[in-house]
Parts: sequence; structure tokens; C-alpha cells
Amino acid sequence: MTALLQVLRKHSIKLILPLVSLGLIYWIWVSDPKYMGYAPDQPIPFSHQIHAGDLNIDCQFCHTGVEKGPQAGIPDTATCMKCHTEVASDSPNIQFLRQTYAAGQPMHWVKVYDLPDHARFSHQPHIARGFDCTECHGDVANMEKIEVVPAFNMGWCVNCHRENTDQAVPPGNNTTVKLTECGTCHF
Ligand code: HEC
Ligand code: HEC
Ligand code: HEC
Ligand code: HEC
Ligand code: HEC
Repeated sequence: MTALLQVLRKHSIKLILPLVSLGLIYWIWVSDPKYMGYAPDQPIPFSHQIHAGDLNIDCQFCHTGVEKGPQAGIPDTATCMKCHTEVASDSPNIQFLRQTYAAGQPMHWVKVYDLPDHARFSHQPHIARGFDCTECHGDVANMEKIEVVPAFNMGWCVNCHRENTDQAVPPGNNTTVKLTECGTCHF
């Protein structure tokens, strides 16, 4: 034991430095905000500013899943047609929308917010806890084009979970989970 301590004392710098740098590299890798600012083009330009801002349509009118489960959901074209059989029908983008609808084809919206498969997320507990959409998606109602606003990485999730270090009770379950445990967010 004392021999080990002596070795450690003698070589501590040589041991600690690489360990610290490895830790640092790991942290930078895990908290790289690589998705921030990501704003892919969509098949037709859909403006949240017009629909959620100017027209003040409720987010949940189109994203019906947020209170129920993991996914918020993207509305199908039938939802758009509630208005666009009449509204702006001479716009080429709306004509494209109507053609795909008439042909029974889906719109191929490009995913914007997309976690890797090893991460586990559900909207339901966050919405039930009272978090607003803006907390995680920014001021969508003023966005012409959707863009990833938060760092959207592990550090971002963990920071908020740390600020709420209490335990959560998953729905339909009576065992509590610790919000900062790896298994809470990883399969
Ligand atoms: C509650 C009614 C309503 C719903 C539902 C709705 N829109 Fe709109 N949309 C409007 C109105 C009103 C405008 C503004 C029209 C204008 O400025 O002339 C508009 C404008 C647009 C425009 C711009 C049209 C142009 O000038 O080129 C597009 C594209 C569009 N909507 C797509 C969609 C899509 C896609 C959906 C479904 C996901 C949808 N809208 C759902 C009412 C609606
Ligand atoms: C009229 C329907 C409609 C309304 C209202 C609406 N959205 Fe959307 N939303 C869409 C459509 C269609 C898309 C896919 C196209 C796109 O990404 O621009 C989308 C995409 C999104 C995305 C990105 C999805 C992804 O691929 O990661 C977020 C986040 C989002 N909406 C949040 C909101 C919020 C927050 C509100 C309320 C402030 C809202 N939406 C209101 C129709 C709507
Ligand atoms: C605690 C953070 C958080 C809150 C609050 C939140 N979201 Fe999300 N949202 C996410 C994350 C994380 C993803 C990516 C999920 C994935 O890739 O599995 C996402 C994805 C989405 C998507 C695209 C994929 C899907 O889930 O269908 C839409 C649309 C969306 N959110 C809309 C909303 C709306 C509308 C609200 C408010 C009612 C909201 N979100 C509130 C974190 C949040
Ligand atoms: C704005 C703060 C905030 C952000 C950002 C956030 N969370 Fe949460 N999350 C919470 C809180 C608080 C709870 C506990 C909710 C409850 O009381 O049930 C929670 C619960 C969860 C749960 C459910 C735990 C369970 O089994 O009940 C998962 C999974 C989760 N978060 C994953 C994530 C992931 C992954 C991210 C990042 C992509 C994220 N969260 C971002 C605050 C946040
Ligand atoms: C609050 C949720 C949350 C917790 C708790 C959490 N992670 Fe993560 N982790 C994530 C998310 C979300 C990602 C994906 C981030 C990205 O793609 O940038 C991630 C990414 C990772 C990666 C990087 C993989 C890659 O694709 O680059 C590793 C490794 C990792 N986590 C390990 C861990 C370990 C070990 C723990 C426990 C000490 C842990 N995580 C706890 C949410 C969490």
C-alpha cells in the first residue's frame, strides 16, 4: 500500500495529466454542440412564423403527440387541407401540397431535431412537468424556418436534469428513477 502511494506520489504528474486530458477530450466530444443551428431545407418552405405566430395556431393542433408519449408527431397533409383547399390555392407550394395529397402521398419532411438511437427521450414527462416548447426548441412562433436552437447534446440534457435532481416516477410505474443516471437516457 505504502509502496503504491510512493509510486503514485513520484509519478503523479505523469499519471494525472493524461487522465485529465482524456477526461477533457471525452467531455468536449460528448458536449460538442454539433447540431446547433442545423436548419435543413424542406420539400416546401413551411413557415412557423405564419402559422404559429401570425395565425396563432396552437402547437398541439399540429403536434398532437406531445402530451401522450415520446413523439410530438408531424401533422399529415389532411391537417393542412383543413385550410388549404381554400387558402392560398394559387401558390405553387400549395399546389404541390394538394397534388401530393390527391395522389395519396406523404410529404417527406426532413427531420430537424434528431437524437441518436442510443438515447432515450420522451416528450410526455417534460410536458407534464410544465416545460414550455420554447425551453427546448426556442422561439418557434417567430421562425420562418425551423432551426436547432439549444446545444442539443448530452451536456444540455444533463445540466437541466441536474438542476432538477429529484426523482421522477415514470407513468404506469411505481419505482423512481434518478434523472442523472446513465440508464435514464440510454438504452
Ligand atoms: C388554420 C388554417 C391553416 C392550416 C391548418 C395550415 N395553413 Fe398554411 N397558411 C394558412 C394561411 C392563412 C396562410 C397565409 C396565406 C397568405 O398569406 O396568403 C398560410 C400560408 C401557407 C404557405 C405559404 C403560401 C404561399 O404564399 O406560398 C404554405 C407553404 C403553407 N401555408 C403550408 C401549410 C402546410 C404544409 C400546412 C400543414 C402542415 C398548413 N399550411 C396548414 C392557413 C393554414
Ligand atoms: C399548422 C401546423 C403546425 C403548427 C401550428 C406548428 N407546427 Fe411545428 N411543424 C409543422 C410541420 C409541417 C413541420 C415539419 C416541417 C418543418 O420542419 O418546418 C414542423 C416542424 C416542427 C419542429 C421540428 C421537427 C423536427 O423535424 O425535428 C418543431 C420543433 C416544431 N415544429 C415545433 C412547433 C412549435 C413549438 C409550435 C408552436 C409554437 C409549432 N411547431 C406549431 C407544423 C406545425
Ligand atoms: C425538454 C425538452 C423538450 C420540450 C419541452 C419539448 N421538446 Fe420537442 N423535442 C425534444 C427532443 C430532445 C426532440 C428529439 C427527439 C428524438 O429525436 O427522439 C424533440 C423533437 C420534437 C419534434 C420532432 C420529432 C417528434 O418528436 O415528433 C417536434 C415536432 C417537437 N419536438 C415539437 C415540440 C412541441 C410542439 C413542444 C411543446 C408542446 C415540444 N416539442 C417540447 C425536446 C423537447
Ligand atoms: C429543461 C429541462 C430539461 C431538459 C432540457 C431535458 N430534460 Fe429530461 N426531464 C426533465 C425533468 C424535470 C424530468 C422529470 C419529469 C418528471 O417529473 O416526471 C425529465 C425526465 C426525463 C425522462 C424520463 C425519466 C423517466 O423514466 O421518468 C427522460 C428519459 C429524459 N428526461 C430524457 C432527456 C433527454 C435525453 C434530454 C436531452 C435530449 C432531456 N431529457 C432534456 C428536465 C429536462
Ligand atoms: C439526461 C440524459 C442523459 C444522461 C443522464 C446521460 N446521457 Fe449520455 N447522452 C445523452 C444524449 C442525448 C446523447 C447524444 C448526444 C449527441 O448526439 O450529441 C448522449 C451521448 C453519449 C455518448 C456519446 C455517444 C456518441 O454518439 O457520440 C456517450 C459515450 C454517453 N452519452 C455516455 C453516457 C454515460 C456513461 C452516462 C452516465 C454517466 C450518460 N451518458 C448519461 C443523454 C444522456
